[in-house]
Amino acid sequence: MKHSNSQKTRINIQNTPVETARSVAQALAKLVAQHTEKRPFSIALSGGSTPQRLYQMLAQDPFCSEISWEHVAFFFGDERAVPPTSSESNFRMASEALLNHVSSSVYRMEADTENVAGYERALQDNLPANKEGTPAFDLMLLGIGTDGHTASLFPGTAALDEHRRWVVMNDVPQLNTTRMTLTFPVIQAARRVWVIATGESKQPIVKGSLQPDSAQDTPAWPILQVAPKGELVWWLDSAAASTLVQLETNPETIPLNKEQE
Ligand code: 6PG
Repeated sequence: MKHSNSQKTRINIQNTPVETARSVAQALAKLVAQHTEKRPFSIALSGGSTPQRLYQMLAQDPFCSEISWEHVAFFFGDERAVPPTSSESNFRMASEALLNHVSSSVYRMEADTENVAGYERALQDNLPANKEGTPAFDLMLLGIGTDGHTASLFPGTAALDEHRRWVVMNDVPQLNTTRMTLTFPVIQAARRVWVIATGESKQPIVKGSLQPDSAQDTPAWPILQVAPKGELVWWLDSAAASTLVQLETNPETIPLNKEQE
């Protein structure tokens, strides 16, 4: 089931997390197939548990044999300040699920050594720049935390106010840790941003992001600042989308115009 709201944000709702992962994989395969530029199709991967199912699905047929992986370059949206062998590492999670099984270029965020300049160079050397000179991903995958964070842009942290650097180390006191993360300039420069949220726990953030209660103050959720110049698609399962209402049933909400199937 597909919907779109009044801007270029589209919302795709599937019944289960597996069906959501499959929809994302099918759409990603189509984008790579349609990518005619000589440079690889650049994807910034999100971490956490939600995308693992998608990455594992991409590493299996039909996607594994269907996608020209040599025309894809993988980057990361954020990384924990741990070695790549750590069970906390997004690089390790993505490598075990997908990257070890395909022939794409991979640019690891060296958060363990806080190599911010090295990652900014990787972005500069391998991505086209938008007119502001900011590296522009072909596709950025983002997850959302139940506190409204995305990548490692957590509520109340310094990285939210970084509008010049593309990559920063961000102290996250609520987790008593430091993370490396892309900043909003890079997120907003992306040609496509896909937010993937599944499960009951994400329902309040999804509802508050896509159909905010106009009577309430806008929450300080970093996900609400994601406004790419390109396309924004929310890929949801029915649990995460369980309280989204459609226009015909509640004209007060953000228009959810049903897209033709
Ligand atoms: C990370 C992610 C982070 C993640 C959210 C949601 O490094 O953890 O990049 O932004 O997307 O925390 O995580 P779950 O998918 O595990 O709910």
